Amino acid sequence: MSIPNDHPSHKLHESSYLRACRRQEVDRVPVWFQRQAGRSLPEYRNVRGAGSILEAIENPSLAAEITLQPIRRYGVDAAILFSDIVVPVNAIGFQVDVIPGIGPTVDQPFRDKTDLKRLRVLEPEVDTSYVLETVKILVDELDVPLIGFAGAPFTIASYLIEGQPSRTHARTKSLMQSESSIWHDLMESLSDIAIASMRSQVFAGASAVQLFDSWAGALSADDYKNYVFPHSQRVFDELKDLGVPRAHFGVGTGELLTLMSDAGADVVGADWRVPLDEVRRRVGPGTAVQGNLDPAVCLAEWPVVERQAREVLRASNGKPGHIFNLGHGVLPETDPAILEQLVELVHTEGLHPELSAR
Ligand code: CP3
Repeated sequence: MSIPNDHPSHKLHESSYLRACRRQEVDRVPVWFQRQAGRSLPEYRNVRGAGSILEAIENPSLAAEITLQPIRRYGVDAAILFSDIVVPVNAIGFQVDVIPGIGPTVDQPFRDKTDLKRLRVLEPEVDTSYVLETVKILVDELDVPLIGFAGAPFTIASYLIEGQPSRTHARTKSLMQSESSIWHDLMESLSDIAIASMRSQVFAGASAVQLFDSWAGALSADDYKNYVFPHSQRVFDELKDLGVPRAHFGVGTGELLTLMSDAGADVVGADWRVPLDEVRRRVGPGTAVQGNLDPAVCLAEWPVVERQAREVLRASNGKPGHIFNLGHGVLPETDPAILEQLVELVHTEGLHPELSAR
């Protein structure tokens, strides 16, 4: 079922972000920032309140306001819904908390077969109605596309199994290797949840979706191929009929970029470790690229940021199909003035012949 004729994305078909996702020519390189809505913004800290981030997400007028803040301040070319990748699993009762400075934590992590029962089907209209309400408020306010999103099955599985953010993902890998039938059942449930969640966001008015497989870079290409790829591929397959761009992002995924593109993404986001000309080579000519300035660079003085941002633009070579972004989320200590200048630079110099002549 494709999106209806009165879907907001039809009115936005000239958007530079949507055009770049489709690898069409643009007047200026589009830019948005992962975690553009967040603690680096004083206006975010002012409205966010003291409660858990999950409570803020459950308040549609607040979540919509937070989504709009970086659009107003930076003039970025896309909005990303203010929510979190753990919202759907939490909403179906697999209790997850998000601890400031740490990230998602689970008191009773996923341990064995019996835990599969804790993952029922997501009914977005019932379980996450507030998310859809936020999307609806936003599409009336925005004149840029709204990006909906979900956590990829691997990254969500890692949070559910580890119980907290993990550097090694050791328990996750161990379950994956030694209990592969439970693993695949778990991945299937989490894929269903991601599909249902992203479809509902698009039907509510989102014009694109991004699947965050933030921690997939912890895997070898072989393990990714056997244990993750078929599931992420199904997620992309089951979104295809919608006709909106589908982006796929992870950190440290240099060795996985070809597979992440092959999974069916229209856009692959990369971190800063691989230059964009090489990212383009790895994802192939049929996929747009997104990235990839190191967010840590944005903590430096402007001349440093400027030099490195030009390097990103140069590597992208002025070819169609580049969405400028950071290689991961905005760090909380980032000076918003730097990001304002960065948007300006990308917009004015993004297609400059000297930058792209190589
Ligand atoms: O601006 C945006 O990008 C939109 C909103 C958004 C948030 N989380 C808000 C948020 C999005 C798209 C996410 C996705 C998300 N959440 C990912 C994938 C992207 C990535 O960073 O790789 C992941 C891995 C999570 C899990 C998560 N949630 C982490 C690691 C953290 C940070 C913990 C911390 O405090 O450092 C969160 C909390 C979170 N999600 C914050 C924000 C703005 C900050 C906490 C707060 O304001 O209370």
